Amino acid sequence: MANAVYPGSFDPVTNGHIDIIHRASRIFDSLTVSVLNNKAKSPLFSVDERVNMLKDVCRDLPNVRIDSFSGLLADYVTENGYEVVIRGLRAITDFEYELQMAQTNRKLSPKADTVFLTTSLEYAYLSSTTVREVAAFGGDISLFVPDLIADRIYAKLRPIKPE
Ligand code: PNS
Repeated sequence: MANAVYPGSFDPVTNGHIDIIHRASRIFDSLTVSVLNNKAKSPLFSVDERVNMLKDVCRDLPNVRIDSFSGLLADYVTENGYEVVIRGLRAITDFEYELQMAQTNRKLSPKADTVFLTTSLEYAYLSSTTVREVAAFGGDISLFVPDLIADRIYAKLRPIKPE
């Protein structure tokens, strides 16, 4: 059994991410869910807001902790001694990018392997991007994210919602 890290943008965390977190937490001794602090992007939620949302949805999982990182994932993995990187695979369209990322990370951090969990079918279509887009137009996101996350998304988007 190993210590795993599940990195991502989580802007915001969705039911698809939560499904992967629950399943990975059952497989590995400990799981760190880590938010990328990418200064080149302008996310909807700050890193602190994303970390806090993840803490709220993972409250009932004792072997899961939440962190953030900046820079190269491979450096973060090496510095923290993670043995496994978790990524979710939704569809074949994810595969090429994920394969390239896994192979690059393995060259840069040879002690760690990437393990892919296939997204549960009910979340195969889901992404943070679509959640943000649906919410921005006032659509119903209750099937996509937990209520406490939906409230924060609507609160954040309210000032730019169309009349
Ligand atoms: O949730 P996302 O946006 O699909 O997550 C992508 C993420 C954060 C895992 C990836 O962009 C990443 O690891 N970025 C850190 C910079 C890095 O290591 N880039 C090289 C990857 S080959």
